[in-house]
Amino acid sequence: MLAVVLAMGSLLLSAAGLVSIVPPDTEPLAFVAGDSAQPLDSTQLAAPVMGFDSVTLAASVQGEVLFTRNCAQCHAVKEVVVGPALKDVHKRRSIAWLVPWVRNSSKMVASGDEYAVKIFDQYQQQQMPSFQLSTKEIKSIMAYIEIESIRSSMMVVGCP
Ligand code: HEC
Repeated sequence: MLAVVLAMGSLLLSAAGLVSIVPPDTEPLAFVAGDSAQPLDSTQLAAPVMGFDSVTLAASVQGEVLFTRNCAQCHAVKEVVVGPALKDVHKRRSIAWLVPWVRNSSKMVASGDEYAVKIFDQYQQQQMPSFQLSTKEIKSIMAYIEIESIRSSMMVVGCP
């Protein structure tokens, strides 16, 4: 019994260290890097566990910078700030919707897009600014949000 509890404990610990949930065919980055004494940063944590490819990961690094600069005053991933929490927004909305929304949300509200009108009303008709960002830049912000969404769910499991 104790052994089971201990085994469970070490499983949790290794989950926190993100070792046990790595798919068997994937080499964990920490091991590739060969220096387990080095703390992992968020992108390294994300890579082996969630199976994001390096292109998505690289994009998310740019996305984090763009998010901090343009969106963070009104949005967080987990909490409502001025605008909605953006956790899992990639599951609610397609890129084809998100790109024109970020570029000009009021145009989408004016066009009568059902979801746009609903969320605009829900947030006291507060207008989100328009951003001169490229599709690539917006996709990189979404890659960052997607990774943060998964990471924030994992934190709950890993660190009770
Ligand atoms: C000045 C505040 C403000 C800034 C800055 C801002 N937003 Fe928003 N955002 C809002 C508000 C308010 C809403 C709710 C809809 C509305 O009122 O138009 C919203 C809604 C959204 C939605 C829809 C969310 C959902 O749950 O469906 C997305 C996606 C979004 N914003 C992305 C972004 C991104 C990406 C940036 C940065 C490039 C950004 N926003 C910058 C205020 C802001």
